[in-house]
Amino acid sequence: MAVGIGIVGVGQVSDYHHFPGIDLDPRAKLVGVCDTNPDLLARKASDWGVEFLTHNPIELIQNPDVDAIIVATPNFTHLEICLEAAKNGKHVMCEKPLALSAEEVRQMYHAARDNDTIHMTAFTYRFAPSMLYMKHLLKKGDLGEPRHFRSQRFLDLPETSWGWRQYKKLAGAGDLFDMTIHRIDFAIDLLGPIKSVSGSVAQFSKRDKREDGESCEPSEVDDWSALIGEFDCGAVGVWEGTTVAKGYKLKGFGHEWAEINGSEGSAVYRMHDPNHLLFGKPGGDLEPIVVPDEFLKPKDSPRDPKNGEPGTVFRYDLVWEFVSAIVDKRKANPCFYDGLRAQIVADAVLESQQKRAWIDIPDEPL
Ligand SMILES: NC(=O)c1ccc[n+]([C@@H]2O[C@H](COP(=O)([O-])OP(=O)(O)OC[C@H]3O[C@@H](n4cnc5c(N)ncnc54)[C@H](O)[C@@H]3O)[C@@H](O)[C@H]2O)c1
Repeated sequence: MAVGIGIVGVGQVSDYHHFPGIDLDPRAKLVGVCDTNPDLLARKASDWGVEFLTHNPIELIQNPDVDAIIVATPNFTHLEICLEAAKNGKHVMCEKPLALSAEEVRQMYHAARDNDTIHMTAFTYRFAPSMLYMKHLLKKGDLGEPRHFRSQRFLDLPETSWGWRQYKKLAGAGDLFDMTIHRIDFAIDLLGPIKSVSGSVAQFSKRDKREDGESCEPSEVDDWSALIGEFDCGAVGVWEGTTVAKGYKLKGFGHEWAEINGSEGSAVYRMHDPNHLLFGKPGGDLEPIVVPDEFLKPKDSPRDPKNGEPGTVFRYDLVWEFVSAIVDKRKANPCFYDGLRAQIVADAVLESQQKRAWIDIPDEPL
């Protein structure tokens, strides 16, 4: 029997990642949708051919046809929806950042863990083929001992309102929670726990006008975030993210560069060209290498990696992983614990900025 999925929040990310992922997966069926915007809800329900519509997440969660939900609403709503899902024994994939602070995320993780539901954090870039291949080469020893990690995420976004994303009580933080948190997560996935960070955030754009020219409350959040960090394994890392880097449109994908320099080689993932990895050997130059077929999509997934824009289509593999974890009765990867570890580091960046100090990252029990 198909896994019945309900989507809470039918906005941009559901349209871009989650619906296409469900549509591709013969083991999954979209059985209901929920959104507080009635016009959008009706439109998406019709586009996606789904009959059960509600404005109330609890009604969707309690629908007996719903086995699992995908939470794709603004950050401040995630905690309550995920606690309700755990209470009702429903599996959850929740968007990042999982919530507004590590304390909230810890509640979500403990509720899902203690109710034996499958929980997943939608850390998209873990699924990029070149990211998977870089991890494989690192673990195989082809890079030698990892020394430096480097991440750049530069976007050239319009300086108009970001909507809910620009208010602290709705979003938590700006670029740091929206963009850099993904890069903190995949750094931990590649290199293991981060033990200490020094970070900073800044705001350059007021964003006090909407696209139509109407005034709005100015942004309260950062549009630039950066950290340096030390990993338990002895490597060091540097991360920088911005949404106001002019000249970095790159066909809408922006600039993304994530790199490991090891004692035997360097490898670079770039999101806009995820089917190639740059690889450099001692004394040589970085050269593109083709990512082997086995890393282009999850094993057994019916997705044809030759179809669609490579920078977009790997995002559909999030749903494949979530449904696979449910069908196979195993943990999803990345899970809420991963979302918590990344959130602890992101919170430490804000604390570091406030105290003008390095912050040690405590161990977090599983
Ligand atoms: N993983 C990724 O790469 C990625 C990419 C984009 C966004 N996101 C995350 O996805 C989430 C949603 O972002 P988005 O860009 O789709 O935002 P969006 O504003 O386009 O969509 C959010 C939708 O949620 C609805 N909504 C708000 N409160 C609700 C509630 N209480 N119950 C039901 N519906 C509600 C809104 O009406 C809207 O349609 C955020 O947490 C964001 O950080 C992740």
